Order: sequence, then C-alpha cells, then structure tokens
Amino acid sequence: MARIIGGIGTAHTPTIGFAFDKDKREDPVWKPIFELFAPVQQWLRDKAPDAIVYICNDHVTSFFFDHYSPFTLGFGESFAVADEGGGPRGLPPVSGHPKLAQHIGASLVADEFDLSFFQGRPLDHGLFSPMSMMMPHQPRWPIPIVPLLIGNLQLPIPSARRCLKLGHALRRAIESYPEDLKVAVISTGGLSHQVHGERAGFNNPEWDKEFLDLIEKDPERLASMTAAEYATLGGWEGAEVIMWLIMRGALPASVRVPHRGYYLPSMTGIGVAIFDPGIEAIDQRAAQLQREKIARETAGAEALAGTYPYTLERSLKGYRLNKFLHDLIYPDRRARFVQDPEAAFEAAELTDEERDLVRRRDWRGLIHYGVIFFMLEKLGAVIGVSNLHIYAAMRGQSLEDFQKTRNAPGALYSVAGKDAAPQAWDRPGERAAKAD
Ligand code: FE2
Repeated sequence: MARIIGGIGTAHTPTIGFAFDKDKREDPVWKPIFELFAPVQQWLRDKAPDAIVYICNDHVTSFFFDHYSPFTLGFGESFAVADEGGGPRGLPPVSGHPKLAQHIGASLVADEFDLSFFQGRPLDHGLFSPMSMMMPHQPRWPIPIVPLLIGNLQLPIPSARRCLKLGHALRRAIESYPEDLKVAVISTGGLSHQVHGERAGFNNPEWDKEFLDLIEKDPERLASMTAAEYATLGGWEGAEVIMWLIMRGALPASVRVPHRGYYLPSMTGIGVAIFDPGIEAIDQRAAQLQREKIARETAGAEALAGTYPYTLERSLKGYRLNKFLHDLIYPDRRARFVQDPEAAFEAAELTDEERDLVRRRDWRGLIHYGVIFFMLEKLGAVIGVSNLHIYAAMRGQSLEDFQKTRNAPGALYSVAGKDAAPQAWDRPGERAAKAD
C-alpha cells in the first residue's frame, strides 16, 4: 500500500532556478538559497521516495486563458521543461508516474474534485525552479512525479478551504493505492510577493513567519482566510501560498518540522520547510472503502460487449494517434494529410501499427487501439466517409445491412463542413458507395 512519508513546502520564484543555473553557490547574495535547500536534498536522499505528488501552478505558460482549469492533474509518461521566453532551461524532462496519477485522478473525482487532466505539456518554473535545487538531476531526475496544477491566476480561484479539503482527499487517494510506494507531497508557492501594478515589490516577512507557524500548527485557521486577506497580508501573487494547504491537508493534524528557513533576496520571500508525519498506521478498512468508491461508477460496464470506455489509460496509449487525427481540424494539417498521407504520418512520428490502422481505414481496429470515436468522424469527414459507414464497419456489417436497422435507412451524415470535398455518399445515385 502507498504511504505518505512527508511533505515539503517551498517558494518557486525563478530566482531559485537562476541561482542554480548560474552556479551562484559561493556568491554571498545567493548562497543562502543553496543553504535553504541543502536539508531538503538530504531529506529526500534519506527518505528515498518512490514518487512525488508535486503541487504548483503554471504561470500561463502551458495553460492559457482559452481554457483555464482550477485543478489539473498530469498523467503523462514524461514532462519536459517549458520555454517561458528565451528557451527552456537546460534540465532533462522528468518522468511521470501514470499509474499512480490515474489512481489519484480517479480517487479525487470519486471524492467530487472534478479535475481536468493533461499529458504532453511541459511544466514551468512553478515546478522546476525549486526542484532543480532539491535533487541531483543529470543525466535524469531520480524520482517520478505526479504534477497537480492549481489555476490561481484568473478569478474565480479555489479557496484556501477547498485546497485543504483537496489535501484530505489526496491523502485518501494515495493511501488507497494498492502498490507499496513511498510518496512525498511537495507544494510550491509564495511566500509574500506582488509582481504587478503600483504595489509591485510588496513583501511582509512578519506575515511569512506567521504563515510558516500556522501551516505547521493551525492549517484550519489558514483555511478560513479569503483570497483578499491573503493578498492584504502577503501581496496579490503571494496568495498562491494556499497551495501549501493541499500538501498540509494530506498530512496528519500533528507534524514535526525538522527544517524551516526563510530568505528574502529580491521580490519573493523564499520560505522552505519539511513536514514529517511520523509513522502512522494506514487505515486499511478506509483504504478498501475508497477503492470500492472509485470503482463504483463503472462497475458493471466491463460486461458490455463491444464497449471500450475511454479511460486515462487508453488516452495515454492512444495520445499520439488521437492527436494526429485531432489535428485534422486545422486546414493546413488536413491539406497535408490529403495530399501526402505518408509524409503526414512521418511528421507525426506515428508507429507502423498506427500508420497501418489509418491507411486501411480500420475503424474497428482504431477503436481497439485507443482512438476515441470522435476522432474517427473527423477522419471520415476529411476522406469523404459518412458516420454511418463508420458505424457499420465497426459493427462488422455492410452499410446497407446497418441502414436497415435505422428508422430512416436513407439518412447519411458526417461532420464535414463547407470546405470539405464533395462527399460521394451525398450525391444522388451514389448513396450505396462503399467507403470501407
Ligand atoms: Fe507562482
């Protein structure tokens, strides 16, 4: 069974990554940052977690305001370093932990935290700035991560109370994971700072000290504060410290803090602390009940023949091919595919199996592989195949036989729009044209 072996809270200001990249460890201005993180490095070495749940925010790098989510869980195989302007830092990508992420995602949703999920997107300084100080990472990072991103830059944002509750749910999620894993929970953010407007440069070291006291001893009090109260005390952007409540909520009420430090070199109070939960027996009965709760929603669906629920597992496996087909919504990608499909396959780095499935228009095989139906209808629209052709092919029937089962056997349609080439099936006299 998985166990939470401890928590870490840390600021994530880019100054931390800058100090590391420029190797400022002997520079008196920057040296205190290295000293803040030395005990964290040691703690991670000693505890050797098998995975880290890493809570932070994205700074409108990988997630823009065209689609902004309060809670976003990463379930990919790997996460690259984001380019925040001027190229990415010279760090290797960090491995994800898809199985743990899928379980945590399912458990949090079962506990009514309706997350969004991502893969194939890089992560910015919210994660990599402090992480580069926490562990050696060349040629590769030693510990896989499950990133949980909090959308706190566009109001409305989750409340401090919601973050603490999410932490409680995160603990239930981790402790119900059936494999033996040592899991550390890291939250980044703050401490006091404001980076915009006439109030830019605001800091409050007294509040930062009080916050570090409260997060250890009285997280309930922190959970009762509003965003405006956090901003008043710690600056508007400093209100991101509510992310620490997720880590804190995943730990018992009483914790030991073997390391805590603070340094304010420039814009942001760099606070760092380790939270040790001690050894507490996991409630096995509660863990079993949580697993049953997770399974409840889909229990029985496995008996539905010819039905393939689109799970995170399928999404992960089929991502490259789904993405290739999804890109057909863009006119230039569509044109390239129509003119030279082999070049389009190559550009998308599809595997031989994936290319073969598309070449043969193997509608059923595509579904079995992990493609969601709504990508099939996009492909159908581009190559002039109606939805009904696809449904019939998936069933292993001729179009005519399948049409006989419909109330209006002559009804054919697709999602092709005004720019599509003439669809042969939509021309009088050619309705019986076979597309498979
Ligand atoms: Fe931030």
